[in-house]
Amino acid sequence: MDTSLANRLAARDLAVVWHPCTQMHDHETLPMLPVARADRAWLHGHDGRRYLDAVSSWWTCLLGHRHPRIVAALKDQLDRLDHVMLAGFTHEPAIELAEELVRITPAGLERVFYADNGSSAIEVALKLSFHYWRNVGRGERTRFIALTGGYHGETLGALSVTDVALYRETYAPLLLEPLFAPSPDAYEALPGEGAAGCARRRLGELRALLERHARETCAVIVEPLVQCAGGMRMHHPDYLTGLRLLCDEFDLHLIADEIAVGFGRTGSLFACEQAAIAPDFLCLSKGLTGGTLPLSAVLTTRRIYEAFYAEYSAGKAFLHSHSYTGNPLACRAALATLQVLRDEPVLERNRALAAHLAARLAPLADHPNVADVRQAGMIAAIELVQDRRTRAPFPASERRGLRVYRHGLDRGAVLRPLGNVVYFMPPYCITPDEIDFMVEVAAEGIDLAIT
Ligand SMILES: Cc1ncc(COP(=O)(O)O)c(C=O)c1O
Repeated sequence: MDTSLANRLAARDLAVVWHPCTQMHDHETLPMLPVARADRAWLHGHDGRRYLDAVSSWWTCLLGHRHPRIVAALKDQLDRLDHVMLAGFTHEPAIELAEELVRITPAGLERVFYADNGSSAIEVALKLSFHYWRNVGRGERTRFIALTGGYHGETLGALSVTDVALYRETYAPLLLEPLFAPSPDAYEALPGEGAAGCARRRLGELRALLERHARETCAVIVEPLVQCAGGMRMHHPDYLTGLRLLCDEFDLHLIADEIAVGFGRTGSLFACEQAAIAPDFLCLSKGLTGGTLPLSAVLTTRRIYEAFYAEYSAGKAFLHSHSYTGNPLACRAALATLQVLRDEPVLERNRALAAHLAARLAPLADHPNVADVRQAGMIAAIELVQDRRTRAPFPASERRGLRVYRHGLDRGAVLRPLGNVVYFMPPYCITPDEIDFMVEVAAEGIDLAIT
């Protein structure tokens, strides 16, 4: 144990590094945690302690840290080709990965456009949708419909279709002006309505919005099944089925943002499968490389691709590039991740782990300060409130979630609540014993946070 090294690193960090999504002042009292290495579900700190990564390092680390097959693939790729621009050049990892993504995603998605991270995938999908309509002579279509409570990233386009006040409010004057349709969030279901009834009602409201605005709208963007950063709010798959039908009826694109929920998180390989739908654009990132390197992909249909295909470009070709588009190392990491998902019964194992997690969480449903315990596969969330009968939320300024976070670190678990929502999104390699530990620490943290 070398706490002095950890302290020195934390002090050097605070002198130069500006951290994401962080009020740096908070770290005057909560030291930054320098991580030396990681394996499986655990982060090992320079302080000699280990921390269970219950949130998969911002939902990226799908299979566990340093999965041996991903590490081997990366080492092999480093000895062959580090990087080459993807304009005018190509390479096997980019081709193979595109072929594999087309094979495993819902039918009809036949073309793959690479980008670097989740937000840039959203930028790509928004631009592609707008540009498609322009190319087919419908340039009056310039707006997007997004859902309340949705999150799609923090670059300006992605933030425009995000409805989480924390991220959006400050920058609102800089943003596009989408239309927001009410979320089918089952937590907001009316008494006796249930998740399916709530989905139906919200589809009715969306229809009314489309009747007024479809002519100026390019696409509807949705996080299928779980609105993650908005508080792990979940909805019934019927909403997605109905949404697909509405997009067809009004001739709009459907953009499915599976950046957080793709690759098995909700129980099926892709969340859209649970509604038996295929979107016009499917955005993937995060778990795509098993949490090793930044990469994203936008899949789309032949019809959309063909609207950009022309002998003389004249503004038809899609103009979007990042220097590291389709980086070979990232593509190899993604291929290795997909090979593990193909060769091993990962989703089957997840079903057993998800059932174990549900059983451990069940007693919390009766807690006087818990309004809801919800779960979709390997995502589970606990909604902390002042009083479970009224569901009155704790004021954000009280930062109850932060107390759970701090307690987690004291006990050796990374729980990073979203406001007053304590959630779990662990790597798929987590064991039942580790789940027990994770839930035990969260339950203790909740008791501390409410007093
Ligand atoms: C659903 C969803 N879309 C987009 C993003 C943005 O991804 P990135 O943080 O890689 O830009 C996130 C990130 O949390 C996300 O959860």
